Formats: sequence, structure tokens, C-alpha cells
Amino acid sequence: MVKRKNLALIYNLRRHYPDPKDPRSNLEADFDDPPTIGWMIKHLKKIGYNVIPIEADEKAYLKIYRHRKSIDLAFDFSFGLWGENKYGHIPGMLEMLRIPFATSSSFTRNLTLNKVKMKQILAANNIPTLPFQVFKNKSDVKIKKLPYPLIVKPIAQGSSAGITNKSIVKRDKELERQINFINTIFNTPAFVEPFLDFREFSVPLLGNPPRILPIIEPDFSLLPKKYRHIDSLEVKWIFEEQEETNYLVCPAKLSGTIKNKIEKVALATWDALEINDICRIDMRTDRNENLYVLDVNAPPGLIPPEVSMTSYFPLAARAAGIEYEELLKIILNSAIKRYRL
Ligand SMILES: Nc1ncnc2c1ncn2[C@@H]1O[C@H](COP(=O)(O)OP(=O)(O)O)[C@@H](O)[C@H]1O
Ligand SMILES: [Mg+2]
Repeated sequence: MVKRKNLALIYNLRRHYPDPKDPRSNLEADFDDPPTIGWMIKHLKKIGYNVIPIEADEKAYLKIYRHRKSIDLAFDFSFGLWGENKYGHIPGMLEMLRIPFATSSSFTRNLTLNKVKMKQILAANNIPTLPFQVFKNKSDVKIKKLPYPLIVKPIAQGSSAGITNKSIVKRDKELERQINFINTIFNTPAFVEPFLDFREFSVPLLGNPPRILPIIEPDFSLLPKKYRHIDSLEVKWIFEEQEETNYLVCPAKLSGTIKNKIEKVALATWDALEINDICRIDMRTDRNENLYVLDVNAPPGLIPPEVSMTSYFPLAARAAGIEYEELLKIILNSAIKRYRL
């Protein structure tokens, strides 16, 4: 009989239900609700693992250390508690203890967290990204180089933390307000780039080497007027969750030319950042169909269908005929193959 593998699922739990108006939501934006983790554990058991759940809190190292000899494989689904290198904390511990794990290395995870460093690496690999400027505080507005409209984001956050309708700015006063907001909530400088008001694509990649699953495109024409055409906290947590129409188009309707361009850029991004097992890449086009990489999620959100039917990656997998448990199997088997376990 084949022995069941012991899988450590490492995750962060959200304590406050997402509310775009509540600043705490921004700090926990990457974290998962308890039902998400509960269902993930059930599915992982169903596909044959003994699951050791480990919350990635301050005691995470002690828990991982205690289990280190019995863990065959870890599934790092953590996002870190604080700091500009928070995504790398748990994978760093796993690397130190020589525990094999699914999802990307501590180095890659921190690179994808830091929008400045990530874009510098992408640019050095001839992968198209937008120009950007970092503003330490609002007095930097006088040295602004880029023309309006601009979008203001935190430098090192994910899951649309700090991104709301107000993040799109058209004048100095609004830019100053958003820089202040980023300074206050995240205690970091603000990251600013041109606002592209055209098409957005979310590109799911799976396996080593990766295959590209059906591409998702939000249909912004279905957004109520009060929402700007971005994947803001409001859109992610309120609109998408109530959404019964076809807001997330998957597979996106693409001409051969743009599809080829997206696939080439996605694979080049995967290679340049040395991603493992799974990621989802956000891209936008300008009016001339030039494509730019905005953001890399490695790993992306993986909310099970019992909790949400609009979690991007599982939705794209379903469009490819891959149900949730099969998706988990593919992610973990990719890691198992990588380590030759
Ligand atoms: N330069 C941009 N132009 C237009 N929309 C943008 C731009 N940057 C971000 N957005 C919008 O904001 C969303 C979140 O930004 P993103 O860079 O992906 O940050 P996060 O790491 O929080 O996901 C994107 O999915 C997109 O809708
Ligand atoms: Mg994103």
C-alpha cells in the first residue's frame, strides 16, 4: 500500500471580514477566510494527503520545526505578517529546514511582492511594463514626471490592498491625498504608474514548465457606474462576490495576435522571475493593443467553489475542465516532480 503523504498546509487567516472602508482589511487583504482554509483541508484530504494545518502566525516557525521530520511536503499558501519581505518569511523557513514545498521560493515571492524590483527585472528581460515613479511623501508631487491620469498603489502589497476608486488620480491634490493614504495605512512610499483604461487580462499558468489555462478578462461594461474600471477592493470583495452575470469572461475573446502576445509575455515573465508550480499574471493593454505586465501572483488566490465561484484561478481551471481537487493535485504533483520525491 502506498503511504499517504503528510502535507503541511501553511496559511494566514483573516480576522476581519473584508470591508473596503476598514483600514484593517487592507492589511489582511491577502489572507484567507476560515471557511476557505477549512474547505481546502477537506479537498486535500480527499485527494489522499494527511494534512497538517499550520497558521502562519508568529509561532509558525516553532510549529514547522516541531513537525519537520514528519512533513513530506509543504503547501506554502502564506503571505506573511508584515514588512516589505513578508511573502518570503515562511518559504525562507522551509528552505532553511530543507522541507520541500509547493509554490515559489522565498526570493521569487519577495520579488513579486515588490513592484519596483519586479518591474526592473522584467524590463531587463525585455518584458513590457509601464514606467513608474515612487513618491516618498506628498511633497514629492513637485517632482512628478508622468502625465495624468495616474494610479497610486502600495509598493509591496497584493490582493488590491490600498486600491480603491480613489486610487485613480487626475490632479496634484488627488495624488497628494493618495500618497498620504498609502503612507498612513502601509507606512511605505507610494508606487505610481500611468492609468491604462483599456483591456485587462488575468493569465493563469500551471506546472513546470507551465501551461497556460484559459485567460480571464473582466467585462468592465457590466460594472455599475459607481465603480471605476479596475479590480479594486470594492470590485473584488463586493461586486464580484454578488456577481451572477458574466463579468469575468473566460476564456477571454481574443484575436490570434493578442493571444500570442499574451502567451509569449506570460511565459517570459514566468522564466524571468523563476516561478514554480503556479501563478497568475495581471496585464493591461493601451489603446494600441500594447501589452504591459502589471502584477504577478505566485501563488494566486485559490478559493474553493464551496466558498466562491469567482476566485480567478479555480474559475479558469474549471473553464479548462479541471475541477478544484484536480487543480490541487496538479499543483502538488508539480512540486513533487520538481523535488523528485
Ligand atoms: N497601471 C494601471 N492601469 C490601470 N489599472 C491598473 C493599473 N495598475 C493596477 N490597475 C488595476 O488595479 C488592480 C490591482 O493592481 P495590481 O497591480 O494587480 O495590484 P495587486 O498586487 O494588489 O493585485 C489591477 O488588477 C487593475 O485592475
Ligand atoms: Mg493584481
